[in-house]
Amino acid sequence: MNLGLSYVSQPVSWLFGSLLDSRNCVYVLTLVALLMQVVAEANSWWSLAMNPILIPEAYIIGAQPLCSTLPGLSPGQKKLCQLYQDHMQFIGEGAKMGIRECQYQFRHRRWNCSTVDNSSVFGRVIQIGSRETAFTYAISAAGVVNAVSRACKEGELSTCGCSRARRPAELPRDWLWGGCGDNLEYGYRFSREFVDAREREQTVLKGSHEHLLQQMNIHNNEAGRRIVSDLADVQCKCHGVSGSCSMKTCWLQLADFRKVGDALKEKYDSAAAMKLNTRGKLVQMHSKFNPPTSHDLVYVEPSPDYCLKNQSTGSLGTVGRLCNKTSEGMDGCELMCCGRGYDQYKAQIVERCHCKFHWCCYVKCKRCTKIVDQFVCK
Ligand SMILES: *[C@@H]1O[C@H](CO)[C@@H](O)[C@H](O)[C@H]1NC(C)=O
Ligand SMILES: *[C@@H]1O[C@H](CO)[C@@H](O)[C@H](O)[C@H]1NC(C)=O
Ligand SMILES: *[C@@H]1O[C@H](CO)[C@@H](O)[C@H](O)[C@H]1NC(C)=O
Ligand SMILES: *[C@@H]1O[C@H](CO)[C@@H](O)[C@H](O)[C@H]1NC(C)=O
Repeated sequence: MNLGLSYVSQPVSWLFGSLLDSRNCVYVLTLVALLMQVVAEANSWWSLAMNPILIPEAYIIGAQPLCSTLPGLSPGQKKLCQLYQDHMQFIGEGAKMGIRECQYQFRHRRWNCSTVDNSSVFGRVIQIGSRETAFTYAISAAGVVNAVSRACKEGELSTCGCSRARRPAELPRDWLWGGCGDNLEYGYRFSREFVDAREREQTVLKGSHEHLLQQMNIHNNEAGRRIVSDLADVQCKCHGVSGSCSMKTCWLQLADFRKVGDALKEKYDSAAAMKLNTRGKLVQMHSKFNPPTSHDLVYVEPSPDYCLKNQSTGSLGTVGRLCNKTSEGMDGCELMCCGRGYDQYKAQIVERCHCKFHWCCYVKCKRCTKIVDQFVCK
């Protein structure tokens, strides 16, 4: 649904679908070895994703000093934290949602969205203006829009409630517009204020590398928010005599966050290389392509190959990563291991099996273990 977002003006309203995907009896491979460990950090609001302080009770008891003790907030973000203390939990949730989605989208890639050091959730990678950094900023800004919009709708925040989005013109006349929708307009506005604060309040030398990164980050934050807005849609519920559906009530609803992740992954694949022009504006490096819109991702530096551990680029390297012996894609051993070769192991995996549908309505599965071959990069 195009809600006509614009940089300058009225934000939007949307909502949020259940993150739970109720597919029946999916065989879920539990590769315990894949459990990743995130080390918390210090220099970005992303650290809110891992802060155990962010439990609602801490706000109810009015733990005032909270904002000054939260790591990673810029001065402007600290002020917003003081004004909107009850929002902080949802910013943390949004960041977490973004990180989780990032790790899902990049699970088969050399760069898998994990961090090399404790300086931030995403590690040092974000000091390079690469495509990966672009994705990281966009997905976290999107996560915040998502979490805050939904929190409004669920009555968790004192300063917002259900969406006040206008009734879509194309909605059939006899359908009611008025269910409580995700408050996209509020979530969008708040995410822009809070997430972009760090970039906006940074004073950078015009034309410097920092200036370039600042412009890139602001652009990608906005792209993430717009994707959430683009994917929000009208959701309706039937009423009427014995399921006749003669009446419908409709409201605005955010898309499942997986869809946001998928869409941003596509934007990652088609991201545009940019540079600063003499007036300090981001412009495309190669003018033969269509210029990126505010819904596209942009980057300003090529990505490292992420093959080896390198502190200065934030690459963890792929030593020890699982790879797929028969795949020719990025998850295949050839590419994943950067030609270094791999070791083969027998590993025990647990999966759901013998699933049965029970009336009504759940699926019960057994757990089976089996031995499989696994391949691990040297
Ligand atoms: C990073 O975390 C590890 C383990 O938690 C710790 O030993 C190390 O001192 C930390 N490094 C920095 C720079 O904070
Ligand atoms: C790490 O990456 C930087 C930048 O690409 C490069 O100059 C340096 O040689 C690398 N260091 C190692 C130990 O590979
Ligand atoms: C990502 O890669 C690192 C290093 O290669 C590995 O330690 C970590 O477990 C991986 N994380 C995930 C979520 O796969
Ligand atoms: C490995 O890759 C092949 C080919 O892409 C695919 O069919 C297979 O399911 C993959 N195996 C695993 C364990 O992911």
